[in-house]
Amino acid sequence: MDEIHKIKRCHPKCSLLLRIAVLSDKSSWRSFRTRFGALSEQVAPLLRHAHKLGLRVVGTSFHVGSKVSESQVYRRAITAARAAFDVADELKMPKMHVLDIGGGFKANQLFDEIAETINVSIKGYFSDHQSAFDLMVMAEPGRFFAETAFTMVANLNDYLVFHNMGAYTTSAGANFNGFCIYAIPMYVAFTSANN
Ligand SMILES: Cc1ncc(COP(=O)(O)O)c(C=O)c1O
Repeated sequence: MDEIHKIKRCHPKCSLLLRIAVLSDKSSWRSFRTRFGALSEQVAPLLRHAHKLGLRVVGTSFHVGSKVSESQVYRRAITAARAAFDVADELKMPKMHVLDIGGGFKANQLFDEIAETINVSIKGYFSDHQSAFDLMVMAEPGRFFAETAFTMVANLNDYLVFHNMGAYTTSAGANFNGFCIYAIPMYVAFTSANN
């Protein structure tokens, strides 16, 4: 609720997505459930409050957790998103039209099954949203692109120096991105080639 007041104060004309919590502890390597998202019982109060303050909630978002190992978690999340769309309708809010399905994808054989599950779920649960204008679906793939893009080959005669790489190194590592900074091993590779 505090966040809604903050948005009202700082950016009252923005379009908002309601982040939904996804119960996916066992199906993903890194669940975001405890960090982000409205539980089902919090959806109506949050939407009602945003609406009362004149804020525009255009849709929902979720993140099923990184590197999921089963496709059905997307179906459950899309069901929860649909329920939130229905709550908005019941509250006579402007029709929501954005469905952000987040990330969690890996570039492996499960991807096709996940894509099929997502397509079938959207067709099933959002059949009343006929056109792209009625429903804009967006995704936020992260590891899908980054994880398999490179293979690092290190010659132990070289120095490897990683300057500040943001949240992914010990310099700024954080549990936020699934890295316990104390658990990140430090390797120093050096060479005698130049000596
Ligand atoms: C808001 C948000 N979207 C997308 C991603 C990408 O997630 P993934 O790498 O699991 O696809 C992250 C990862 O931290 C995230 O926090």
